[in-house]
Amino acid sequence: MKKLKLIGPFKQLITMTGLPLKGALSDAQLVIIDDAGMLIEDGKIKTIGLFKNMAVDADNATTEITTLQGDHVCLPGFIDAHTHICFGGSRAKDYAMRNAGKTYLEIAKAGGGIWDTVTQTRKASTEELIKKTIKRSKQHLKNGVTTLEVKSGYGLSVSEELKMLRAIKTTNAQTPLDLVPTCLAAHMKPKDFLGTNTAYLEEISSTLFPILKEENLSHRIDAFIEESAFSKEEIRPYFKKAKEMDFDITVHADQFSTDGSAVAVEFGALSADHLEASTDKEIELLSKSNVIATALPGASIGLGCAFTPARKLLDAGCSVAIASDHNPGSAPMGDLLTQAAILQTFEKLSNAEVLAGITYRAAAALNLTDRGQLKEGLLADFILFHTNDYNEILYNQGSFKPCMVFKNGALIF
Ligand code: NIG
Ligand code: FE
Repeated sequence: MKKLKLIGPFKQLITMTGLPLKGALSDAQLVIIDDAGMLIEDGKIKTIGLFKNMAVDADNATTEITTLQGDHVCLPGFIDAHTHICFGGSRAKDYAMRNAGKTYLEIAKAGGGIWDTVTQTRKASTEELIKKTIKRSKQHLKNGVTTLEVKSGYGLSVSEELKMLRAIKTTNAQTPLDLVPTCLAAHMKPKDFLGTNTAYLEEISSTLFPILKEENLSHRIDAFIEESAFSKEEIRPYFKKAKEMDFDITVHADQFSTDGSAVAVEFGALSADHLEASTDKEIELLSKSNVIATALPGASIGLGCAFTPARKLLDAGCSVAIASDHNPGSAPMGDLLTQAAILQTFEKLSNAEVLAGITYRAAAALNLTDRGQLKEGLLADFILFHTNDYNEILYNQGSFKPCMVFKNGALIF
């Protein structure tokens, strides 16, 4: 095997470099390299330049050269920083009820809601969960996602959360993309836990947190701060413990009510996700912090409610990531590019803002510094679209899929 790989020419290579982490972006700020080539060594980018010159300079004894035919646009592999793809069963019934005008409470009373997925996920064997998570991961990979966050949160007991996180770990080892596992044991208090919310959180933090560290199952703690889940007062000691144990924090915040974002800021969370209900007050608070505001258009589409105010967040100076929230209840679609393109038209976002939200800003939401841009030293995670103009990608609103997906320099699709 030759040590180096050279691939190109790419009609346009969008580096996603040189852009600020926070705030609004215009397309004119994008760095676009025409007729580009990429030299790869050990799964990482060694150089990016003009393909023609790189091909002349390449040493044939050590470099495998791939010359592409036709026009291609090259982008960093997409990063989906918020999903719940490890689950059993389906919630098609909830979806039909919601579209028939039933309320959240009526659906829960009829046996739907998060608890239904918990029941079905608990029934699934570890092997079944792995199989389903692999299948969903591969679909994301096909759609250009090379790094995918996956939450637990449908186990809701120490042993069932462990089952989920071990299944996610095995899936990560068996699929080419990188999964980033997050513990969402604080999704809601399980119906079979007889104590208070605080007692449940105390049991999770004292028993599950140390095992997460021992088995290296997750270094991220998430919580759903909402009237139907946990209050800010209940979550504070839980996050305090998580911080003391050096976990990264992320929050399901301001989906229906508005306490979550303030807690995210208070605890220096990496991200506050959802924010559909955020008002100017929460937006201002977030803009003064380093918390990434993650928009989840898939949940707005799935629930038929308002989008995250991405335009206002960006104009206020926030860093906005965009994720699919792929889950069986509120966001069954699981197609990041389509959802990002839809958010774009409703929120009037530039191409640069959308692409930033699913590349380097999403990387920041996961605290990953080795991806999300195309430059020397970073992972050679990149995707190609069969076109000569990057504007075609979002213009086609997600129906235009990548023709090739590379992870660590290797062609996967
Ligand atoms: O991110 N908001 C809470 N959790 C998920 C929904 C989970 C479910 O309904 O199963 C979300 O939308
Ligand atoms: Fe979620």
